[in-house]
Amino acid sequence: MRIERVAVVGAGAMGSEIAQVVAASGRPVMLVDVAAEALERGLAHIAAIGDRRVARGRLTPEEASGIVARVSGSTDLASIGGADLVIEAAPEVLDLKREIFRSLDAAARSDAVLASNTSGLSITALAGETGRPGRVLGLHFFNPASVMRLVEVIQGDTTDEATLELGMGFAAEIGKTPVRVRECPGFLVNRILVRALVEAYRHAEAAGAARRSADAAVIASGPAPMGPFALGDLIGLDVAAHVRRDLEAAYGDRFEDGGVLDREVAAGRLGDKSGAGLLAGCEETPPDDLGPEVAERYYLGALEEACRCLDEEVAALEDIDVAVRLGAGWSEGPLEWADNAGLARLADRMDALAVAGVDRLRAPELLRARAERGEPFVVGGTERA
Ligand code: 3HC
Repeated sequence: MRIERVAVVGAGAMGSEIAQVVAASGRPVMLVDVAAEALERGLAHIAAIGDRRVARGRLTPEEASGIVARVSGSTDLASIGGADLVIEAAPEVLDLKREIFRSLDAAARSDAVLASNTSGLSITALAGETGRPGRVLGLHFFNPASVMRLVEVIQGDTTDEATLELGMGFAAEIGKTPVRVRECPGFLVNRILVRALVEAYRHAEAAGAARRSADAAVIASGPAPMGPFALGDLIGLDVAAHVRRDLEAAYGDRFEDGGVLDREVAAGRLGDKSGAGLLAGCEETPPDDLGPEVAERYYLGALEEACRCLDEEVAALEDIDVAVRLGAGWSEGPLEWADNAGLARLADRMDALAVAGVDRLRAPELLRARAERGEPFVVGGTERA
């Protein structure tokens, strides 16, 4: 089967950006949301992406209007009936997604593939709600989905190989780089990125670090294009809080963030989309010199989690760096970064942090072993001068 007709269910920030990407590949898209207002906002967002790209000379006005014309909107789930592939992009609440998958199964063609854009909920659980568990997979896009090039293609316990191949091929055809990821809570990039975020939030909170100084230090001292506070605001603090909570439930205390995200959400501060968040809508605070400490926690958190993913075979070694580069915009992945920063130096620093009480950042065994053997993660990787 070739995927020609696509439906996207959920017209929020992610759903509308995914619909834009699919329409830009020349395919007709049905964007569905039960709330008419959300649907209107989603369609307007797709038009706005086109306007922005025309203004930057990246699209002709005809190309932009062609993309808009290929997206139809509906508030009726029955409108997904013609789709070869349905991508669900609803809020990150398992019970809600379970219910949606039951409805998708009833409304979609019996041979259609059902995908979830979940950031880390169980594909296997969603597949179990349907009569086609082999044809259910995860297609996880990154924010902003019209820009970030990665799609994690997630294989649940029941996803069949043909469906997985179809997902890999489809992601490539719409201009993304697919990376195959074994199902686990948080999948690959969110595990690594959210771990980095929570390490930074937790340390900044405990040390009373200025958030803008911390963000600036993260950008200045490593491969990330944005600091953790600006990134939280971009992702959406409600989304980040959900993902963090699920990761803490699955993996324990190392996903604690010092209460930062829940506190923002409880105050109705959801990041850029609400105009108020970790930085959004906040007064400038006086800069301080604690940024480098926060930045160190950020990158070591990412590295510790990347080593766990490698150890657990969540993805192939080379895919871990590719995924973080393309999903989070890093100029090098966490393993390449570690090679270039010096494995022995990092392992010593992590063990020193463990001795100082931050046991969760103790040097992973596989990092220490490579450091002792003088064997970088990326063979032939370049040493930084
Ligand atoms: N929302 C939507 N689009 C945005 C944006 C935003 N907040 N900020 C920038 N963009 C767009 C720009 O309009 C431009 O689009 P175009 O190519 O269509 O013209 C493009 O991004 C590049 O923008 P700029 O050149 O102005 O800016 P930068 O070079 O600074 O790049 C960035 C901006 C792409 C956001 C870059 O800073 C980046 O890669 N940041 C990291 C983002 C990241 O980590 N995402 C993953 C989050 S985790 C996630 O999504 C998983 C989920 O499950 C929680």
